[in-house]
Amino acid sequence: MTHQFDTVIHGGTLVTAGETFKGDIAISDGKIACIAERIEGAERRIDATGRLVMPGGIEAHCHIAQESSSGVMSADDYYTGSVSAAFGGNSCFVPFAAQHRGQTIASVIETYDGRAAPNSVIDYSYHLIVSDPTPSVLADELPRAFAKGITSFKVFMTYDLMNVGDAGLLDILTVAKAHGALTMVHAENNDMVKWMNARLSAAGATAPKYHAISRPELAEEEAIHRAISLAKLVDAPLFVVHVSTRGGAAIVAREKEAGTRIFAETCPQYLAFTRSDLDRPGMEGAKFICSPPLRDRQTQEALWKHVSGGTFDSVSSDHAPYRFDETGKFLNGIDAPYPKIANGMPGIAARLPYLFSEGVLTGRITLQQFVAQSSSNAARIFGLTSKGSLMPGHDADIAIWDPELRRIVRHEDQHDAMDYTPFDGMELTGAPVTVMSRGALVVHDGELHARRGQGRFVARAPSGSGPMRGHRAPEFDAASAYGTDIRP
Ligand code: URP
Ligand code: ZN
Ligand code: ZN
Repeated sequence: MTHQFDTVIHGGTLVTAGETFKGDIAISDGKIACIAERIEGAERRIDATGRLVMPGGIEAHCHIAQESSSGVMSADDYYTGSVSAAFGGNSCFVPFAAQHRGQTIASVIETYDGRAAPNSVIDYSYHLIVSDPTPSVLADELPRAFAKGITSFKVFMTYDLMNVGDAGLLDILTVAKAHGALTMVHAENNDMVKWMNARLSAAGATAPKYHAISRPELAEEEAIHRAISLAKLVDAPLFVVHVSTRGGAAIVAREKEAGTRIFAETCPQYLAFTRSDLDRPGMEGAKFICSPPLRDRQTQEALWKHVSGGTFDSVSSDHAPYRFDETGKFLNGIDAPYPKIANGMPGIAARLPYLFSEGVLTGRITLQQFVAQSSSNAARIFGLTSKGSLMPGHDADIAIWDPELRRIVRHEDQHDAMDYTPFDGMELTGAPVTVMSRGALVVHDGELHARRGQGRFVARAPSGSGPMRGHRAPEFDAASAYGTDIRP
């Protein structure tokens, strides 16, 4: 007997960024075909009674098969990274493709295509990290990347080998604006950090705990303010990644209120851990070294308020997996001083269970906010037009959650290539039990069903559109500019 639909998920509670309702959902040819109170038939029927049926998570900030600024390769490749993402409720991710100085953008994309296409089990795109904005990159190579559907460019204001400087950031913002791309920024004042490092080093303060002091809150706040000012000068949209401070979040909130075209995220680690974790015995604190660094309890509370209040468009993992051994954290030796320990921590699988348990079940965010911050906003902001929604016609990228499943996070249950998880021992309630990508099962009842390389590259639409207004710098008006036309 032939059926009208390939799959029907029945009996569940459907949750979107806008509403929650009981219904069945039918899938055909990898797309959501229809939603109705009751749908009969189908080749395969999945019982979602007592479960939540949501758009699959979209992980918009993760480092997969990527060399860090200091040349350390992340532990996860596109297979382990995507499998781990899927077990964490994600059906799509957007890792970084990083340009290191001297590399052409075309060669970077070719390298990452070679890493991703044969391996990923979920759909993917890349944000391009630009560290070398040469005239050729700006005039030719970034527009070509954009034409391939890579519509977001990330820049660093810190790390000597990646920092593009203010003029470089202005140039990249200008190119991005011209093409409808979105510039993402890691905002920390590089000189403040270097100055602190020098003083700490002179004082012999090299243990992991000093990492927190070395990257002051003011370094983030100043850089966020500066990055927004640069974006406003050229009237380009900006996405501020991994906001970790009260002051930084307050600046973002104020600018959003004023209508500035700015987007922002925070990450679970800034909500779950504090700088006291960097002071664990021996070198254990190295597991918690990430940049910007972990802060304090008051900051956690303030950041949660900004998650609840809508300052942050998404909560992303910033999954940057470096093992607790000489291939990762300790590439420079087991007792390396903190500035020589790899920056970053894993979290791609924990992001959504943590946000559900600590956000939804505590009442800090609604189910609608959960879907928005885990999936729909990333789809809208980063031009993933076929994802992040349960609307008919969209890709059937779906996560089915058991909202009552209690689990203790254990390293041995993880699917990444890491040898630790910072979330070890944490009890979380609510977990994804089924994840589908374009209608195909990726994870179901604890088992992986996907084939290596099943994920596809997603060419994205222009990024960075939103309800906010632009900003017009008066200096570019013909009258103020003495008749010149220097508008970006
Ligand atoms: O410490 C982190 N977050 N490492 C990854 C690179 C970056 O800064 O995003
Ligand atoms: Zn960063
Ligand atoms: Zn990152």
